[in-house]
Amino acid sequence: EKLKVMAICGSLRKGSLNQMVANTLQELAPADMTLVQAPSIADIPLYNADLQNDDGFPVTVDALAAAIEEADAIIFVSPEYNYSVPGVLKNAIDWVSRLPNHPFKQKPIALQSAAAGMLGGARMQYHLRQILVFLEADVFNKPEVFITFGKTKVDEASGRLTDEAAREVISAQLAAFGHYIQRVQS
Ligand code: FNR
Repeated sequence: EKLKVMAICGSLRKGSLNQMVANTLQELAPADMTLVQAPSIADIPLYNADLQNDDGFPVTVDALAAAIEEADAIIFVSPEYNYSVPGVLKNAIDWVSRLPNHPFKQKPIALQSAAAGMLGGARMQYHLRQILVFLEADVFNKPEVFITFGKTKVDEASGRLTDEAAREVISAQLAAFGHYIQRVQS
């Protein structure tokens, strides 16, 4: 059976560079890997413990958590905002972290980022790794994927990453991540 890997994008906007990278993952994945997109995090409310008192969690949180549980592994594809993790993504992670079954615990996770600038979201990735320490996720190390000067590397019409060097790095990461997932699962 194929490995099921789910991409969670940290940008909500149409025309997101990171969403374009996420859209391209399936065509760069090894033959034994299926890439799916996470349910939207756009409608997850701002974290508020009062929203989870009686009836459980918001349905949007439950949907994301169920999808995480069902996937063999997760790839976060996210921009960097002010040197860190976008609030919308942190908010989604905060909600999921409150579920008693801890969906991220021991989940293999790879990180990718695309940015307009020359560091490609590197600072965000190291903050995200820090967050995932507390969640006890199994975060994959190398090769790392930083898409620098992202606007020059996508085709907006098809919504895909087209830069050949960037595509090669992602292919290499997905292949290595596939082996990592199998090692972690065994
Ligand atoms: C940015 N951007 C940005 N880029 C970067 O490399 N480091 C940073 O700290 C920031 N900070 C930042 C804050 C906020 C609020 C915004 C909106 C943007 C620029 C960012 O790389 C660029 O907008 C990307 O295109 C965002 O990713 P998506 O939406 O295209 O996926």
